[in-house]
Amino acid sequence: MRIILVGWGVVGQSFAKIVTYRKKELAEMYGFCPRIVAIVDQKGAVLNTKGLDIEQMLFLKNEKGTISACNKDGHPYMSALEVIESVEAEVIVEVTPTNIETAEPGLSYIKNAFRTGKHVVTTNKGPLALALPALTELADHNNVYLRFSGTVGAGTPILEFAKKCLQGDKINSVRGILNGTTNYILSEMDKKNITFNVALKAAQKLGFAEADPTMDVDGYDAAAKLVIMANWIMEKKVTIKDVKIEGIRDVSSKDLEEAKKKDCTIKLIGSINENLKVEPMQISKHDPLAVDGALNAVTYVSESAGEQTIIGLGAGGMETASAVLRDILDIKQNIANKMME
Ligand code: HSE
Repeated sequence: MRIILVGWGVVGQSFAKIVTYRKKELAEMYGFCPRIVAIVDQKGAVLNTKGLDIEQMLFLKNEKGTISACNKDGHPYMSALEVIESVEAEVIVEVTPTNIETAEPGLSYIKNAFRTGKHVVTTNKGPLALALPALTELADHNNVYLRFSGTVGAGTPILEFAKKCLQGDKINSVRGILNGTTNYILSEMDKKNITFNVALKAAQKLGFAEADPTMDVDGYDAAAKLVIMANWIMEKKVTIKDVKIEGIRDVSSKDLEEAKKKDCTIKLIGSINENLKVEPMQISKHDPLAVDGALNAVTYVSESAGEQTIIGLGAGGMETASAVLRDILDIKQNIANKMME
């Protein structure tokens, strides 16, 4: 399977490492023989139809700042769109940073991949939060697959748990902690009786929160994930504009003290019922969602199987890359099934 990797940051590099170091095992267990035929970073591209040498690509990024500095196969200034349109491959792995306002450049990459008949695996929440219903239609129209498990829960299979493990059941509602940074901040405030600003600084120091923490603390990251879940799992045609969003900036130590008196704590909860909401809420300390630190947790309430909660890390390069691999294997399986029909 030929793969174009758009984005050579932590997730892109982690994915390339996994498929390189586990090459033999992936071939034996899944018949999966990936060939990364192109990589694009911010300064250009590197192309080789026989498959790129990943060790060399990792070295080039570290030493020269761009993979396009490769003497043999490098194409400085070649854009991702040029690569997507001109290089033959089955799958595009789109791992560029999220822009929740415009969804670009990821949105154009995904659309162009579809138009040129390529399947897409993305970890970029922007295009999905703004246009998932349209993107799923476009993928169907072009007879290709769009997969995005790494966008919700990173390596924790929150989407697949609902879509595959609960297959056939009807999910009536969802409640969950979908953002690790805010969960870390609220847990620290609760445990150590410190203010939001002090806890935020600690989260930034540990690398959880971005230097501009708006996406996390104002609830947009959790809202984007909620939109993805509502579309994918519950067939709701919604975008981020349909979510009522409130972040955690106004949660005070006093609010947490009040909650404690009732054996409760405060968490940033995303919920899907008739409406989609992200808001700080008091929950019982005995609720399965009352997880601490940077964990994510989601409770699904389904018609026949009842209530189930899945808990796990919701961020990290290797973790997210493992979701990319799962998605590609899923696409491979779907293609094989189609051929048997
Ligand atoms: N910033 C996100 C979080 C991780 O804190 O959960 C990526 O989705």
